[in-house]
Amino acid sequence: MNTLRSRFLQHVGQTSPSPMMVEVERAEGVFFYSPDGKRYYDLIAGVTVNNIGHANPAVVEAVQRQAAEYMHVMVYGEMVERPQVEYATKITSLLPEGLDSVYFLNSGSEAIEGALKLAKRYTGRTELISCRNAYHGSTHGSLAVMGSEEYKNAFRPLMPDTRLIEYNDFGDLELITSRTAAVLVEPVQSESGVHPPQPGYLEALRKRCDETGALLIFDEIQTAFGRVGGLFATLKYGVTPDIVCLAKAFGGGMPLGGFVSSKEIMDTLTVNPTLGHITTFGGHPVCCAAGLAALNYTLEHDLAERAEPIGALYESIVGKHPAVKEIRRAGLLIAVELGSSERMFKMMEELTKRGILTDWFLFCDTAFRISPPLTITEEQVCDSARIILEALDALA
Ligand SMILES: Cc1ncc(COP(=O)(O)O)c(C=O)c1O
Repeated sequence: MNTLRSRFLQHVGQTSPSPMMVEVERAEGVFFYSPDGKRYYDLIAGVTVNNIGHANPAVVEAVQRQAAEYMHVMVYGEMVERPQVEYATKITSLLPEGLDSVYFLNSGSEAIEGALKLAKRYTGRTELISCRNAYHGSTHGSLAVMGSEEYKNAFRPLMPDTRLIEYNDFGDLELITSRTAAVLVEPVQSESGVHPPQPGYLEALRKRCDETGALLIFDEIQTAFGRVGGLFATLKYGVTPDIVCLAKAFGGGMPLGGFVSSKEIMDTLTVNPTLGHITTFGGHPVCCAAGLAALNYTLEHDLAERAEPIGALYESIVGKHPAVKEIRRAGLLIAVELGSSERMFKMMEELTKRGILTDWFLFCDTAFRISPPLTITEEQVCDSARIILEALDALA
């Protein structure tokens, strides 16, 4: 039959062996609606993209206004485009001092690529260090620093001179040396199934980078814009990197990525060679207008401050169920550990039946995620947590 679903499988390139296959007709707030009238709680938020909820009127209005004024006008960095300038000014006013120059791109992978190039260019070194079980994207460079051999092996040769360390392992910091251009780390490791930093770990990492002259790069692609309970993880944990990578919620639901550094470091991309990084669509005016509107909404509604109590409320309800082995959490980025992948996949099925969409983690298929829009109300938390408890009961 020539249904939308069959054409999805036939004509839309596939990489997942078991796509969710929920047809979306409309999305609003914390809900998806399918054409059969079924409503789903969205506990994924597009993998921490939709922090301010779906179809937020503030973003819809900004997109419509900017689209009517102008869309693409010229490759990045030549014309003075108000949405880029306003967004860069706002973001840098909220980040720690020294992070004052934003290079806009389209996605997280591109933000990582740009940050790695900048670190090599600034330090004149080549070695890039990242962590086991870290996900930084799927392009060749970001894949080269991914923390999983399984995902890398089929695509070798990749970028040389990379090395993995164990996240949260203080001993491994010795592997950072005067050969190292940069250490790339997620301040809260996400796709490993949510692992917040051990007390003192990010400080020790900062210290080791300072001792060796390596740049410290934070991948805040999942953690920023209030998700972990602090507008940025760098603010929450009080450790300032040399470069921050942003994407996902950065565009308020539109595709936008970027890396932020000091003007001194950033400016090295303008010489030897000039145009050290080029993008056509990066910093698209409509995406920047959407991102700025989303950030303003986040600030006006104190969403970063809400993430911690809302996350704690989920933990207090769901964590009590005997089938739950552990809850790992940073703000409203939550992994519910079930201890077996069989149980986790059964749980996803049970939840979908009951009108909740959740997902597993790329490097941890024994836990499912709870990361709804930060706008979710307490009533909606209690209601969705009740459904989760029912689904957990059905696992027995
Ligand atoms: C922590 C992290 N870094 C980088 C990326 C890559 O971002 P994108 O898919 O926009 O290229 C992702 C995407 O899931 C991510 O979670």
